Amino acid sequence: MEGIYGAVMEEIWRYTGLSPTAFFTIAGMMVVVYRIVTGMFVDPEDFNQPPVAATINTVDPISKSNFVNKYFNSTGAARGSSVQMGDMTEEQLREYGGSDPNKPLLIAIRAQIYDVSSSRNFYGPGGPYAMFAGREVSRALALLSFKPQDINGNLEGLGPDELGILQDWEEKFIEKYDKVGRLVTELRMNSDE
Ligand code: HEM
Repeated sequence: MEGIYGAVMEEIWRYTGLSPTAFFTIAGMMVVVYRIVTGMFVDPEDFNQPPVAATINTVDPISKSNFVNKYFNSTGAARGSSVQMGDMTEEQLREYGGSDPNKPLLIAIRAQIYDVSSSRNFYGPGGPYAMFAGREVSRALALLSFKPQDINGNLEGLGPDELGILQDWEEKFIEKYDKVGRLVTELRMNSDE
């Protein structure tokens, strides 16, 4: 194994003149850019739907166009009209990770839960940030990391720069999305229903 690994690294160096770390960083960035760009394209069928501004505030789900269903969200929750979810555990939050298209897409930052259904193109299945849906993502955002082991709410060991990055993200989410609940470690017995 060791020999194969070394040989591969040497080939990368020989062909690209890049260190293996630089090579994989660039390759990773190319994947992210590719997924974002391809995610921007719309079905021709959707493109012929009425303009979003005319339909975004529509409450009646039947009158919504396909475009709005796809790019705003399946529950009809435009900014300001998300359904409040109340307290949720991490396990419950996982149910809102995009596998059920009829449920809103939720993300937690610093234990505040946001409805990000309007950005299904980012967080829905196949989106570049799908791994964040249904999760507490504070650590990942602070570290600008996609590693599975960083996708959680543990702030331990983060420095001031990283906490600053997290705060910028939090401000962006507060401005862009509805807060629909709080992440709790355990539901209080009498708060059920
Ligand atoms: C090569 C690296 C990256 C590129 C080119 C890139 C590019 C982009 C672009 C173009 C957007 C859309 C911005 C908008 O329209 O509002 C975006 C959104 C986003 N990016 Fe990245 N990104 C990169 C790396 C990262 C990393 C490392 C993270 C965190 C771990 C991250 C997290 C996000 C999130 C959470 C959003 C969505 C924010 C929202 O909900 O509005 N990105 N990115």
